[in-house]
Amino acid sequence: MSLFIGADLGTSALKLMLSDGEKTLNVVSKTYEVSYPKDGWSEQSPQDWWEAFVSGVKSLIDGFDKSQVKAIALAGQMHGLVALDEKDEVIRPAILWNDGRTGAETAYLNEVIGQTKLSNYTANVAFAGFTAPKIIWLKKNEPENFKKIKKIMLPKDYLNYMLTGVYATDYSDASGTLLLDVRNKRWSKEMCEICSVKDEWLPTLYESYQKIGVVKKEIASLLGLGDGVVVAAGAGDNAGAAIGTFTVGDGKCNISLGTSGTIFISSERFGVDESNSLHSFCHADGGYHLMGCMLSAASCNKWFCDEVLKSSDYALEQAEIKDDELGRSGVFFLPYLTGERCPYNDINASGTFIGLRPSVTRKDMVLAVLEGVSFAIRDNIEVAKSIGVNISESTVCGGGAKSKLWLKILSAVLNIPLKVPMVEEGPALGAVRLAAFASGEKTELAQKIEVKEIVYPDGELVRRYEEKYKKFRKIYPTMKNLFKEIK
Ligand code: XUL
Repeated sequence: MSLFIGADLGTSALKLMLSDGEKTLNVVSKTYEVSYPKDGWSEQSPQDWWEAFVSGVKSLIDGFDKSQVKAIALAGQMHGLVALDEKDEVIRPAILWNDGRTGAETAYLNEVIGQTKLSNYTANVAFAGFTAPKIIWLKKNEPENFKKIKKIMLPKDYLNYMLTGVYATDYSDASGTLLLDVRNKRWSKEMCEICSVKDEWLPTLYESYQKIGVVKKEIASLLGLGDGVVVAAGAGDNAGAAIGTFTVGDGKCNISLGTSGTIFISSERFGVDESNSLHSFCHADGGYHLMGCMLSAASCNKWFCDEVLKSSDYALEQAEIKDDELGRSGVFFLPYLTGERCPYNDINASGTFIGLRPSVTRKDMVLAVLEGVSFAIRDNIEVAKSIGVNISESTVCGGGAKSKLWLKILSAVLNIPLKVPMVEEGPALGAVRLAAFASGEKTELAQKIEVKEIVYPDGELVRRYEEKYKKFRKIYPTMKNLFKEIK
């Protein structure tokens, strides 16, 4: 029996899945730290990812016939900047997707170079978390480090490089660098020039499902694997989740309620949202997609419960909330804990409760957080609607999808049915599929998923949330300037 390993290099943990290409045989998770050296900064050590990967693979395959592992693929957190020197050593900690230090560089790209040019070169404009502004930041703020650069790579590509010695990336992840000409699937010469990126620093581009190489001999023996294990190019985590949830081809949607919140709309053809509020990226299935990414989704609930309520039992916090209370309270929460990416592109925005009164209870505030994140997802769906993309249903994955209450709220806020897949680990499952395809043993990239549950919108709740959403929509524009002032 052939075995495949898929891994999801997340922000809080590396999740690994072992599969025979049909069934999940084992799942292992290894956590690591995020460091926040300054307000708005967010960094991680690539060496921590590698250690998590090595120990994770060892426990994942323990007790299985290791010689049958045929291929590995990774889906990874996007946009992070990993820079290596001439000895292939990591120059500084990776700057992550939710790092907000590049306000000035983002403004330079969008305002001085100009959004029209950026959109022509890459199909996107600059957002603080994208890789290109980070490179400009490094040049300006850490010139000594910048001078040492010989390679720049995305988080999962670092692990692929450690595994194979092959310097590669895939189109879906490369899309989030703002250095890729997404429409034509090649590095943009203009963008590289603007960001002082040399050609030889850039990895070779592959489709996510292509083989980039095999696991090096010494690494195979470190991991306990046989010879010739294939490594696929892999994907950005959202494109990986899309493969894992069968969000492929034209017009399908997957919503991820993870640390970030994303809506992912697959498309066979290249397309761009003219306001550039949504990202226009390549898909791991060889096509394209539009994506709205919110920087904080399930992480808002985690923050409120862990940090404020000092309670890590999220289900218990939600247990007392009755259906009759949904959408009725006057408490609103804006989920912009780390600024916001889509649709506002505003690093100054911050998390906000509004509508507090002496009668407001703990559970009202817990509910307001779940509602606020759902409304912010709706903001992205509204942008998609405005360009003629109609979403009639979606799959949903990520930690937040474990909450039935949250799914009920989200389904009513969006007024669409939500399908919950049987396999929760969307990106890791997508990675398994990429691995199996790259090995040549499977000829179908994505497979229909088994659905655990479908949550249908409740008519009465839809009406209540329609009213509440109208009010929610007015809050950000009212606060926008103040956010900047109070920062
Ligand atoms: C997508 C994005 C996030 C990260 C999280 O653009 O920034 O979803 O990929 O891992």
